[in-house]
Amino acid sequence: MALAQNAKTPPAANAPDAPAPALAAAPVPSVDAAAPVDAPGLHNVVAFGRDVLSGSMPEGDAGFDSLKAWGVQTIISVDGAVPDLARAKSRGLRYVHLPIGYHGFDDARKLELSRAVRDLPRPVYIHCHHGKHRSAGAAGTVTVTLGWLTPDQAVARMKVAGASPSYTGLYRCTTEAVKVADAALDAADAGFPEVSRPAGLVKGMVAIDLTWDNLKAVQKAGWTVPPDHPDLVPAAEAGRLADTLRLLRDDEAVKARPVEFQALMARNADQAQALEDLLAKLAAGARPSAEDAERMSAIASQITATCKACHSAYRD
Ligand code: HEC
Repeated sequence: MALAQNAKTPPAANAPDAPAPALAAAPVPSVDAAAPVDAPGLHNVVAFGRDVLSGSMPEGDAGFDSLKAWGVQTIISVDGAVPDLARAKSRGLRYVHLPIGYHGFDDARKLELSRAVRDLPRPVYIHCHHGKHRSAGAAGTVTVTLGWLTPDQAVARMKVAGASPSYTGLYRCTTEAVKVADAALDAADAGFPEVSRPAGLVKGMVAIDLTWDNLKAVQKAGWTVPPDHPDLVPAAEAGRLADTLRLLRDDEAVKARPVEFQALMARNADQAQALEDLLAKLAAGARPSAEDAERMSAIASQITATCKACHSAYRD
């Protein structure tokens, strides 16, 4: 049943003053849709309101063209990867990069995300990598915080998106969210960065270490989701490792280091990328072939060797 037909349902799948979205010919996912929608270059798109969509990272020109056709004006990435700013800008789309983890996010990030959705031109498209877990968690929490959905309505949309019940932290962010006063949103950080980079080598290494630990657990589970870490998305972990290493490679302080140091960082990034490429070939939860598993373990040994080579030459 449509939300509007139920008198007892709290109203407002949207802000009362939400502008009529500039919708193009392509059918825009509806807040009543019982299943996610795919479009060229976009997967798993679910509406959390008339002008708040959640979905996968836009892929190539097709993905950004699909967003444009839906009238989207602002893209918010909650993924760690660096956004494709060139493709967004060439279509006049604003990008905001506010990464969140798989375990949920703190109040500051919640208010920042909510303020971005309230204040920037809509419709907005919120994405992570696959568009199932983190983007849905963010969209759910934000729409409750803005008072546009009840926690029950938002959780129902998260389920439509396929957000795994194992991400209890993401669900908790939504169930525990409450509508906040405008003044609280006005006090939230409105820097809205188009790209968030880890701050410097030490923080980057700490992030790399965490991700690498996760990947070791993935390897131990035969390159699948570890039973004791059902929240891990193997390909996304490898992608994050590659991203962080690439960001460090491009860091000014790292560029001031010896050429050999930079080469080791670049090699480590390439190795992590090779690992992501193999993991990304797999369907969610699928086991790799014995051959691919062997290849991935060989790459893992090379990654460890590169970490050690750099540490013994430049750190220890
Ligand atoms: C190109 C060089 C280089 C590569 C490659 C590299 N590291 Fe590092 N790492 C460093 C340096 C330099 C430091 C010391 C930073 C400092 O304290 O200023 C460091 C520090 C660390 C630290 C300590 C952070 C802290 O709390 O102070 C950890 C953990 C770490 N690296 C893990 C890794 C892992 C895991 C890999 C491989 C996946 C890796 N590093 C690859 C250069 C590198």
